[in-house]
Amino acid sequence: MQLIREIDALRDAVATLRQEGGGVALVPTMGALHAGHMALVAEAKRHAAHVVVSIFVNPTQFGPNEDLAAYPRREASDSRMLEEAGCELLWTPAVEVMYPEGYATTVSMAGVSEGLCGASRPGHFDGVATVVAKLFNQVRPDVALFGEKDYQQLAVIRRMTRDLDLPVEVIGVPTQRDADGLALSSRNIYLSDEERVAARALPRALGEAARAILEGVDIDEALATARGKLAAAGFDPIDYVQLCDAETLQPLSSLSRPSRLLAAARLGRTRLIDNLPVVPAHS
Ligand code: PAF
Repeated sequence: MQLIREIDALRDAVATLRQEGGGVALVPTMGALHAGHMALVAEAKRHAAHVVVSIFVNPTQFGPNEDLAAYPRREASDSRMLEEAGCELLWTPAVEVMYPEGYATTVSMAGVSEGLCGASRPGHFDGVATVVAKLFNQVRPDVALFGEKDYQQLAVIRRMTRDLDLPVEVIGVPTQRDADGLALSSRNIYLSDEERVAARALPRALGEAARAILEGVDIDEALATARGKLAAAGFDPIDYVQLCDAETLQPLSSLSRPSRLLAAARLGRTRLIDNLPVVPAHS
């Protein structure tokens, strides 16, 4: 596996892969890789002959009081995992390479980026859209893969890719979970042992709410019950528990089309997010 830190070297290496044929897949990450990322790499191999993974802890998507400095960085073990998984190229630029002196451009998104995490993390999705647009231009992949765990991020990237006519197919990959249901996340390492046990309440409350909604329970009532279960487990604050249109992420008060149940809440110093599909039988 080649480890590349400069844009010229990246372009040459990708051009060589492209000449070999079979297409190029990109898996953008911020490192601290876990089984969720490896599922993206495995899926990438089903879509293209060559897999490029990027690791870049993107400062522009972190708010001033968020965990940029503490975010886990584990290049050596990440590289080993990627090599074993058959990734051919690891693109891991320094901040000065991604945002050189004088850098002044932002991809600013409205609509799908505004509610949910966009409301509690102002500027976050502009940072994500900007770096992903840059990664797409740097690597020029045929396909790019993102986890459904960050469902709003996936919706933002799909919208941005369509809006900017970027010639990349965006593929969402289902969330990977621990045996007790907790969605895998690089941030789970922040949880204490006690919090890790309490965290199970998040997938459980979402699963119960999704089932209740499908059985016809009033949506506001199901969401309030889920919020109550999260509060009882120690989540505070609960940023949102919301049923939304699966594509636009507009909040829904009736289940008439494919929907997504999404939640974000803090357990101690760790902000956890999760989501589930809620698809009415007739859609
Ligand atoms: O999901 C992530 O790891 C990041 O938000 C991404 C898509 C790599 C952009 O920095």
